[in-house]
Amino acid sequence: MQPRGFVTLAVFVAALAVTPPAAAAETLRALAQAAGLRFGTAVDVKALQTDATYARLLAHEFDLVTPENALKFSVVQPERGHFDFTQADALVDFAEAHGMQVNGHVLVWDQQLPDWLAHGHFGPDELKAILREHIQTLVGRYRGRIATWDVAAEAVGEDGKPRETFWSRGIGPDYLALAFRWAHEADPHARLRYNDYGGEGDGIKSDGIYALMAELRQQQVPIDAVGLQMHVSLKDAPQADDVRANMARLAALGLQTDITEMDVMLTLPANRAALVQQAKLYGEMLGACLAVPQCRSFSTWGESDRYSWIPEFFPGQGAALLFDADAGAKPAYFTVRRVLRRAASRR
Ligand code: G3I
Repeated sequence: MQPRGFVTLAVFVAALAVTPPAAAAETLRALAQAAGLRFGTAVDVKALQTDATYARLLAHEFDLVTPENALKFSVVQPERGHFDFTQADALVDFAEAHGMQVNGHVLVWDQQLPDWLAHGHFGPDELKAILREHIQTLVGRYRGRIATWDVAAEAVGEDGKPRETFWSRGIGPDYLALAFRWAHEADPHARLRYNDYGGEGDGIKSDGIYALMAELRQQQVPIDAVGLQMHVSLKDAPQADDVRANMARLAALGLQTDITEMDVMLTLPANRAALVQQAKLYGEMLGACLAVPQCRSFSTWGESDRYSWIPEFFPGQGAALLFDADAGAKPAYFTVRRVLRRAASRR
């Protein structure tokens, strides 16, 4: 028989580890809705199909989903002209069944390209035809079902200048304007977005993104929003005031904004102090979005630490999201909830 103190301690530890689900009115999605925002996350479709806890938490707390990989070029068009929508369809069906919006991610990016494309030799006209068919097949298929599309991502360099990419080399500098126009043709009601990292606050890259957006708007390219990804660490994160000012100047160009991919990587194992600082950072960035009426949504890049991309890409780092590997709510979750509750009560 175990001593009585042991049992008490064991029960206490178990109670700490298992967070009861939030009451319906207290979920992130309910509070965000009351505060005028959508609250989203990137979804690993395989996890959605195999992990019941993951699916339950997703539907309970979030009302906006972004396929983390399911709509990327190599997944959706692995062979030329052969489209595979199995994973994307599963997510869109799940979203519709649970009253969630979907972000389409991503049409023009220079990563996760299939070999036939990356290693093919195509002249500018053929490449334009390939990109146009790709964009119009995806956007057309989900017309009226995918509310926002990341038409282009990561097209600006650290120096603030347009980055040389697979697409700019192959098509020429007007590839971005063409991509937005083709997407608009395929679904005139979809909200079209440019999405990038490292340009959330002030600095050369933010200025470069702003300049590119101003140019596209001046050319009357159909672009509606800018996604600020917000992949940060405790040492390397923008100031909330700068994020707010950046959103405000983009709003003055007529553009909405979203925080699209927030995560805050920590050194593993994460200690309590780091988790508390992480929570503060989440709260500040959410506060910046709530302070700007044109900021329409806030998304994390993954639901729980179990499926985060960080440990694979940054060995020794992780614990970057609102829920831990066992789907338990972390300090950041409670801070985000508090910030949303306060914003909701002020409306
Ligand atoms: O699909 C293959 C699978 O068949 C294979 O068995 C497995 C073996 O490693 O690899 C699988 O592909 C991986 C894919 O994720 C799906 O798990 C790729 O190798 C891996 O590179 C890919 O990483 C994704 C990364 O984008 C690609 O650059 C991450 O999951 C995803 O979180 C990350 O997301 C990006 C956004 O799209 C854009 N913004 C930055 C963000 C973080 O990098």
